[in-house]
Amino acid sequence: MSVSPGVAVMSEKDFIAERRNAAVSEAVAEIRGIEEHRGVSRESLTSIKEVLLELAAKRDLFSEKDFPSATGEPLLYLLSEENSHRFALYLSTGLPGRSSPPHNHTTWAVIAGIDGEEENRVYERLDDGSVPGKAYIKVSEKFVVKAGTGICFMADDIHSIHVVSDVPTRNFHMYGRSVEHLPERIKFDLDQGTYEVYPPSPGIRK
Ligand SMILES: [Fe+2]
Repeated sequence: MSVSPGVAVMSEKDFIAERRNAAVSEAVAEIRGIEEHRGVSRESLTSIKEVLLELAAKRDLFSEKDFPSATGEPLLYLLSEENSHRFALYLSTGLPGRSSPPHNHTTWAVIAGIDGEEENRVYERLDDGSVPGKAYIKVSEKFVVKAGTGICFMADDIHSIHVVSDVPTRNFHMYGRSVEHLPERIKFDLDQGTYEVYPPSPGIRK
C-alpha cells in the first residue's frame, strides 16, 4: 500500500491511545452525570460501577504493554482527573501477596476488576469516634474483585485490599477526588486500635 506524501500514518500505539482517551472521557462524563443528577448514594455508586465495568471490558485499551503490572511497590496509573481534582480514575496494579492497611477515603470510591483477584475486606467501626487517634474496627464482609466484578464505598466506609491471585492485580480504582487531595484520609491499625493520616501512595504514575 502506498502512502501519499504528507499523510501521517498513525502507529498502532497512537491509535489505541486515541481510542482509550475517547473511551475514558466518555465514561468519566457519564459518571459525572450520574453524580450530578442522582448524588452520591450506594445506588448511584452501583451505576458508576457498571460504567467502569464496561470500560474494564475494553481490555485491549488497558494492556500490560501500555500499563506494565507492578514488579515491586503497588502502582497507580492516573488515567483521568479534572482540574478541580475531582473524578480521578486510576489503573491500580499490585503484586501477589500485597495488601493495604484498613483505610477510609473521605470521598466515594469504586473499584472494577480487569485482571487478578483483589480481596476487599470491609470493616465495621465499633467505637463512637470520641477519642482522637483511637478506633476499633472489625471485618464485616469480604469480597473478591476480579474481571467483571466491582465494589463501591461511601466516604466513611473502611476497607483494605489484599492481592489473593498468583498474578498481579490490574483494576480500576476511581475516586470522587484525587488520592493526592484527601488530606484527612486515615488508615487504621487493627491490632493497636489506633488510626493516623494515610498519605497518598508514592506509586502514582502520570
Ligand atoms: Fe481504598
